[in-house]
Amino acid sequence: MADTRPILIFDSGIGGLTVLREVRLLLPYEPIIYVADDAAFPIGAWEEAPLKQRLLDLFGALLERYDPKATVIACNTAFTLAGQALRETHPGHGFVGTVPAIKPAAERTASGLVSVLATPGTVRRAYTRDLIDSFASQCHVRLVGSNHLARYAEQELRGEPISDAALLAEINACFLKQDGRRTDIVVLACTHYPFLANRFRKIAPWPVDWLDPAEAIARQAARVLAGATLCAPSTGSDIAIFTSGVATDGLRRLLAGFGLELARGDDFAVR
Ligand code: DGL
Repeated sequence: MADTRPILIFDSGIGGLTVLREVRLLLPYEPIIYVADDAAFPIGAWEEAPLKQRLLDLFGALLERYDPKATVIACNTAFTLAGQALRETHPGHGFVGTVPAIKPAAERTASGLVSVLATPGTVRRAYTRDLIDSFASQCHVRLVGSNHLARYAEQELRGEPISDAALLAEINACFLKQDGRRTDIVVLACTHYPFLANRFRKIAPWPVDWLDPAEAIARQAARVLAGATLCAPSTGSDIAIFTSGVATDGLRRLLAGFGLELARGDDFAVR
């Protein structure tokens, strides 16, 4: 018998949808519950201790309520902070994490100059520093923390375009020239940013490879579920829960485009 429990995909907002579309390509019939802790958005600006506690409390409640067969934390800011504690608190549960793609960037760069574009929280994390020490010590890695890009991505997707100048101000520090070499890879280390990647390509001072980890995360989700009995096609639609309980028409439309139906605000609200 198929295991009909859902896959839970989590982010602080719409960023995790960049991962959801890749998960759907590899696991097309699995029921999905998309959870956005938008009441806390942007979590990149939070202090570590209260954010970690909030995430542990929220996941405790979500896992109990929805009993997912795996959970994809489609958020660098959350996973680099609380991933290990979540695995320790829920041993045996299949958590799939999202971390800055520093290792693949270090393997691919020709110039040795790599930039990591992320939230201020991810830039500060010990986890991120450890990734650089372990996998990219031979490279020059520049960490660029953006206070605004996650919000800009939310606005763009809801139909409020952001100007080139505003975007350029956030990405400019990624572009470095040193000893005749220049940055050739920018790691998109916040799941919101791939939604802006085409804009970035147009305004970048020179062409670079913009590394989006979404496909690799989806492959990892498929590996975690390799032993499970997967579902057959069904007509039921997947649901999205936004913790603020605020449901605008714009959000409903956006989610419908991703095959998600916004669950009623009182279904699961953590204001
Ligand atoms: N999408 C999130 C990430 O991957 C962060 C956005 C936020 O600051 O809330 O880090």
